[in-house]
Order: sequence, then structure tokens, then C-alpha cells
Amino acid sequence: DMLLGVMGDPIAQSKSPVMHTAALKALGIPGAYVPLHINGDQLGEAVQAIRTLGFRGVNVTIPHKVAVMEYLDKLDESALAGGAVNTIVNDNGVLTGYNTDGIGYVRSLKAEAVPELSGTRILVLGAGGAARGIVSALLKENPASIVIANRTADKAQELAAAWQGTGKVTGTAMEGVAGIIPEADIVINTTSVGMFPYPDELPIDPGLLHGGLVVSDLIYNPLRTRLLEEGLRAGCTIHGGLGMFIYQGAYAFEYWTGQAAPTEIMRRTIIECFG
Ligand code: ATR
Repeated sequence: DMLLGVMGDPIAQSKSPVMHTAALKALGIPGAYVPLHINGDQLGEAVQAIRTLGFRGVNVTIPHKVAVMEYLDKLDESALAGGAVNTIVNDNGVLTGYNTDGIGYVRSLKAEAVPELSGTRILVLGAGGAARGIVSALLKENPASIVIANRTADKAQELAAAWQGTGKVTGTAMEGVAGIIPEADIVINTTSVGMFPYPDELPIDPGLLHGGLVVSDLIYNPLRTRLLEEGLRAGCTIHGGLGMFIYQGAYAFEYWTGQAAPTEIMRRTIIECFG
């Protein structure tokens, strides 16, 4: 049977077990996907146990995505580019770390809002781990430009410098967005601003939003953030964070099983969970 799980601390809130359990069942794959509550000083032993117990793979979530990297045998290019691992695949005892967050986000953005990203002008709000993975995946789609805006401007500039060779990525202070949004096609919020338990907060002045924009938010709790509400009011196309969660899981599921993930069943399962 295919043994799978997710390592995190805390872990009880994770929606990954119900989503992957539904996916295994839909494809008739015998196995189980279980929540694994692992604290930081057990992480090395827990990773070793993937081999010992014969798990085919695990997801890794907060706070272990960076720390777990040192215990793996190989790191995929996505993990190196993202600076973090959210998926481990066990090939007969050889553990490889992947990062499916960035590519999962881009697959969701293309499937649900912007089929063609080539030539688009993109504004990314935030310069943390989520922004890094997303910018790295977006660059593969050949956008015209990506501006990273962050409350701490230095972090935006440091992150942008990682791709200076492309000539497409620049960093700015959050105040800089007033000059950028009028020229932008897509605005992506990767900050935690607007997330439960503070759903009334906004990462930018909503007066800047205009009808030509796609507004995307990585947050999926709430499903429709205040930023997305304001975007709708301004006539923007909106894109929420649920798809990123589903498709990061879909890629992981595909790496483990070698089969196409049943993404509509995964989506329905998650939406029922929120209801
Ligand atoms: P993640 O891995 O989710 O990206 P992170 O690395 O902690 O998490 O990054 C959080 C991001 O949200 C950062 O860009 C942070 O801005 P700073 O670098 O200035 O801290 C941003 N952020 C968090 N709270 C914020 C707030 N109240 N206002 C503006 N930005 C905020």
C-alpha cells in the first residue's frame, strides 16, 4: 500500500490529509495519507523514518520547509530555486526534495484566470518564502516584468537581485505600488495581510485597483479576502489561493503515484471541508 503523510507543527488544522485521501480513493489506489505531528528536534529522525517505515513520500509544512532540506539525499531544482521543500519522494530509500508551491500556484493561475502569462507585467506583494517560489515559477512563463514590493524594501531588493541576470525582476518599497499598478496586468498578494484572524486588512490601497487587472491572493482562509472583494468592486478578474493549495498537492500526488491527480475531486473535498 502507498503510505503518505504530512509533517508539520501544528498539524491538526492541515487540509492535506482529507484532500489526498479523497484523491487516493478516487483513483482506487490502496494506501493512506496521515497527519504527522513532528517538532523541530525530531525532524531528522522523522525523515529517517520515511525510509524505515517505507513511506512513498510526505509533504512538509510550517515550520519545517527549510530545515528539512539538510536531511535529504537530493534536492530538485524547484527546491533549490524556492529555498524550501514541501514534498519528499522516496525512491527505494533515496529521498528527493521538491517544491511544488510555486509551480502549483502558476498552474492554478493559468487554469483559473490567465491562460497566457507571456508578456504580462506582474506585481508581487511581499518578499518572503512564498514570493520566492512564485517569482521563480512565474519567470518560466516569460512575463514582460516582475516587480516585488515589500514593507521592508531591502528584502524586496535582495530577492529581486537573485534574478538580476534575467533583467526582468526589480524590488521596491510597498509605497512604490502607486506608480506600478496603473501599468500592471496582474497583482499577486503573497503577504499574510488579510488572513484569518484579521480578514479586514488590506496589503495596498484599494483605490489603486482598476478594471484591467487580475488580482490574485495566495490566502485561502478566508476564501475571498478583502483584497479580492475590493478587486471585484473595481471590475478586476479575481483569483483566490485555494487553487494553489490544490495544485501544489496535485503535483506532489503525481510525483508519488505517477498518475494524473483528480483535481476536481480534490477541490470539491476541500470546499466541503470549509462549508
Ligand atoms: P511566507 O513564507 O508566507 O512568505 P514570510 O517569509 O514570513 O512568510 O513572509 C511574510 C511576508 O508578508 C513578508 O513579505 C512580510 O513583509 P516584511 O518582509 O516587511 O516583514 C509580509 N508581511 C507580513 N505582515 C505584514 C504586514 N502587516 N504588512 C505588510 N507586510 C506584511
